[in-house]
Amino acid sequence: MGKTSKDKRDIYYRMAKEGKWRARSAFKLLQIDDEFNIFEGVTKVVDLCAAPGSWSQVVAKKLILEQKDEEIRKKTKIVAVDLQPMSPLEGVIQLQGDITE
Ligand SMILES: C[S@@+](CC[C@H](N)C(=O)[O-])C[C@H]1O[C@@H](n2cnc3c(N)ncnc32)[C@H](O)[C@@H]1O
Repeated sequence: MGKTSKDKRDIYYRMAKEGKWRARSAFKLLQIDDEFNIFEGVTKVVDLCAAPGSWSQVVAKKLILEQKDEEIRKKTKIVAVDLQPMSPLEGVIQLQGDITE
């Protein structure tokens, strides 16, 4: 008997669901950061075409939720923009609109 469509989903899809990430693309950003340490010293992020928000989730986790320095946490701003509405994310300012406008 063939696999159901759910079974066919790849390991990153399943890991995303288990890890509460909104999409498997979260792992791409986590892997890029593991290799290149891209969030070092970053306090301002604009996530363009952000929905459903997995990259914003990663950024918020790295820059706000895991930030121990309160001063840095206070000055950190993350803005997510998408045509589609997104469920709220702690620490992320959300704008619904066209990034080209
Ligand atoms: C593949 S999804 C992005 C996934 C997201 N990076 C994540 O990690 O969850 C692509 C998104 O681009 C958005 N999009 C496409 N054109 C856009 C535009 N001109 N302005 C704003 N959002 C746009 C779509 O609404 C869609 O949600």
